[in-house]
Amino acid sequence: MAEGKTGTTKVLMEETRIFEPPKDLAENCNAWQWAKKKGFKTEQEMRDWCGENYIEFWDEMAKTYADWYEPYTQVMDDSEKPYFKWFVGGKINMFYNAVERHIKAGKGDRVAYHFIPEATDQPERAYTYQEIYETVNKLANGLKSLGVVKGDRVSIYMPMLPETVMAMLACAKIGAIHSLVFSGFSSKGFGDRVQDCEAKVVFTADGFYRRGKPMPLKPQADDGVKDAASVKNVIVLKRTGLEVPWTEGRDVWFHELVESQSAECETEVMDAEDRLFILYTSGTTGKPKGIEHAHGGYCVGPAYTCKWVFDLNEDDVYWCTADVGWITGHSYVAYGPLCLGITSIMYEGSPDYPDFGRWYKIIEDYKVTVFYTAPTAVRMLMKQGTEWPEKYDRSSVRLLGSVGEPLNPEAYIWYRKYFGNEVSPIMDTWWQTESGCHVISPLPMTPCKPGSVAYPLPGFNTTLFDEDGNEVPLGSGGNIVNPTPWPSMLRAFYKDEVRYKKEYWDMYWNVKPGTYLAGDKATRDKDGYWFIQGRIDDVLSVAGHRIANAEVESALVAHKDVAEAAVIGKPDEIKGEAIVAFVILNTGVEATDDLMKALRTHVRTSLGPLAIPAAVIPVQDVPKTRSGKIMRRVIKAKALGNPTGDTSALANPESVDYIPLI
Ligand code: WT7
Repeated sequence: MAEGKTGTTKVLMEETRIFEPPKDLAENCNAWQWAKKKGFKTEQEMRDWCGENYIEFWDEMAKTYADWYEPYTQVMDDSEKPYFKWFVGGKINMFYNAVERHIKAGKGDRVAYHFIPEATDQPERAYTYQEIYETVNKLANGLKSLGVVKGDRVSIYMPMLPETVMAMLACAKIGAIHSLVFSGFSSKGFGDRVQDCEAKVVFTADGFYRRGKPMPLKPQADDGVKDAASVKNVIVLKRTGLEVPWTEGRDVWFHELVESQSAECETEVMDAEDRLFILYTSGTTGKPKGIEHAHGGYCVGPAYTCKWVFDLNEDDVYWCTADVGWITGHSYVAYGPLCLGITSIMYEGSPDYPDFGRWYKIIEDYKVTVFYTAPTAVRMLMKQGTEWPEKYDRSSVRLLGSVGEPLNPEAYIWYRKYFGNEVSPIMDTWWQTESGCHVISPLPMTPCKPGSVAYPLPGFNTTLFDEDGNEVPLGSGGNIVNPTPWPSMLRAFYKDEVRYKKEYWDMYWNVKPGTYLAGDKATRDKDGYWFIQGRIDDVLSVAGHRIANAEVESALVAHKDVAEAAVIGKPDEIKGEAIVAFVILNTGVEATDDLMKALRTHVRTSLGPLAIPAAVIPVQDVPKTRSGKIMRRVIKAKALGNPTGDTSALANPESVDYIPLI
């Protein structure tokens, strides 16, 4: 953790605007109907009761939203914290809950996804639950024929396609643990993750479409697995028809694997705590963390929040724009809506193809009712002006969602107006890869303040602690903590017990053992509304994605001309933060513009386009502590023209002068 940043902070600016939700929505939404049935008089009374009685609450949610092969005998077991267990003894399978039970209930004809290709001359296509059921069964048999068994890891490096979700479901069905890697990651980023989880099989595609053009993916996948000894087979989806390099005996076409199999396949009965997936996310060190999630809890968290926060019902047309390779895609494109049998939109491409009207057009064409996206996308579209939304009919939209970073009030007002017709409330949902589902969010009946994520959801006791583990009063800020566990929480870091304990549980272990430290700071105003302030550690938030400063730095120092690197985030109107890298070059190397350009390209090839620095700036030295720790806080203050504070602890205080304004 960076020095001196975790003290409580004051609420500086008070937001006084309040948006009331439409009356009929507030009255009739799923969450409030539940509250009324239970006899709660106010929303706050309900939220408080559900926190205090969280075991009883989650027990009811698990029985309401999940189907069990065998009931659990204990709701939660904390005898080995920080390794919490949920629904002890229960038998379940995510595939059964997401697909199979809908077929059994006679709902196979319902559309799971309306798939919309990016290219406007390709046909849009509906995938029913029945079709997904049959294809996944065949694919699951295919995986078995390749020798994949329960507990094996399968890496999925695929674009935004229904087949990507089917690959996830096929793994879940047979008890294999999937690990998605966003297809925008470089081959190295992909390869590192495959090696870390020792995947037996890898899914990829020949390519994908971007801005109307087919782009290759298979060569990156090949490059990524070249040193991964664990990989026995590479399953390749044909999406573009691009010619692909082929390794005989290892590579298998997705469609051939599916065609050769029977549509009958038994779903594996899993223990509630058996792992469903590993998803890598950035922490404070260069090495990504493999967050593990379990079948039982994950069948509950995403479905419950889809029902309560997004108020999803069977007549909704729901669209979450996230890529399925991120946690938002796992919980809110794949598992959450599928568990509820919802109809979703899945759009392959970017919001500006063929023009900036594309998203609004899809909303009009499909009469989307609930829409979930990220602030960075809202700000990007806001910049294009009102002519695009005004061309299309968006009146079907009744509820909006936001995730990934703070939705600043200006973007909030715009989003509400141009996506929400000035009536749809915005569920600004705070959560993490680690939490598996929304943690702090308004509900459809909550009066909302722009820029605020409202309050902790029912079932959570989320609060703010100061450094000593005291709860901070309203009107000030602190570290976001969860003093009690929740079903869809992370279970472990793959093969890294030490970091798991250190990053999430050590901070308050001596005061309140079992308190989860989220790694974000927040404030609460006098009415108890929460405002997220950002990370406490050195993690950047670029376009809503976490990127560790350390990961970009280690990519830079891997270049032959770079001796040292320090990476900071510069506030960026659209992306939230832009990456700025300061580099100390090796002796004798000249700091040319070409070299700086080459370093940006180098980061792109090492980590992928998300991590490209907006600027690479050569410096003579960077400020460090006596123990050699780079003081990013000081660099950032100097570069942004803010007071650098006390620099007396630095080993090289004069180095501050070398940092230019950016
Ligand atoms: C981090 C988690 C969970 C889905 C997206 C990213 C930031 C998330 C909000 C929000 C302000 C937010 C936090 C969090 N974050 N939602 N509504 N307002 N900040 O998942 O990569 O695990 O990142 O994203 O800093 O810790 P992730």
